[in-house]
Amino acid sequence: MAILKAIDSRRAFRALSTNPVSKEVLSRLTEAAHLAPSSGNNQPWRIVTVVDEEKLNALKATLSAGNYWAKKAPAIAAFVTKAEWSMRLAGRDCAYFELGMAAMAYQLQAVEESLYAHPIIGFDVVMAKQVLGIPDACVLEVLIVVGYPGDPSGLGEKHRELESSKRLRKPLVDIAAFDTWKENLVPTPKE
Ligand SMILES: Cc1cc2nc3c(=O)[nH]c(=O)nc-3n(C[C@H](O)[C@H](O)[C@H](O)COP(=O)(O)O)c2cc1C
Repeated sequence: MAILKAIDSRRAFRALSTNPVSKEVLSRLTEAAHLAPSSGNNQPWRIVTVVDEEKLNALKATLSAGNYWAKKAPAIAAFVTKAEWSMRLAGRDCAYFELGMAAMAYQLQAVEESLYAHPIIGFDVVMAKQVLGIPDACVLEVLIVVGYPGDPSGLGEKHRELESSKRLRKPLVDIAAFDTWKENLVPTPKE
C-alpha cells in the first residue's frame, strides 16, 4: 500500500466489533511499534496489551463516560514510558516523542491488519495503572483501543456521524512553512 494512502486510511474510528483479535496479529502491532526510531536507540516504549476478559473489564471500568464505545473492544494496549529511559537534553524529554512514534507505527500496522486502533486519554490513569500493575514512576501516556470494524448503531449520534464524516484538518499552510517561521503557524485561540 502506498504510504500516504495507508496514513490517510488510519482514522480514530469507534464502531468496533467484539470479535477477538489473535495474539499473533496483536504481536505484529507491537512489532511495528518496536521498529520506531529513538535517540541513542534507547527504545523507551513499553506496551501492555490486555486481552484477558477479567483484566479487560477492570481496565474498561477506568474509561471516561465519553469513551463508552471502547467497552466493546476485544483488546486494549497501554503505552507506557518514563523520561529517564531515553535522552533528556535541554528541556527535551525524548521518551514521550519516541513513544508517540511507536504508537503511530502501531496504528499503521493496524491499518494493514484491517483493524481500528484508536488512542485515548479519557480514562482514570491512576486506576488503570493499578489494574495493570504499572509502577507509579512510569507514565501511562495513552491506551490504544483495538478491534475489527463493527456496527455503528450502538454509537451516540455525534460519534455515528463522525464514522462517515470527512476528516478534519487545519489547512496545510497553517501548520507547515518553508525556510522560516510564519505568523500564521501560531494557532488562533479557541473561542
Ligand atoms: C493522545 C490522544 C488522545 C486521544 N484521546 C481520545 C479519547 O479519549 N477519546 C476519543 O474518542 N478519542 C481520542 N483521541 C482521538 C482523537 O479525537 C482523533 O485522533 C482526532 O479527532 C483526529 O481524528 P482522526 O484520528 O480520525 O484523524 C485521542 C487521540 C490522541 C492522539
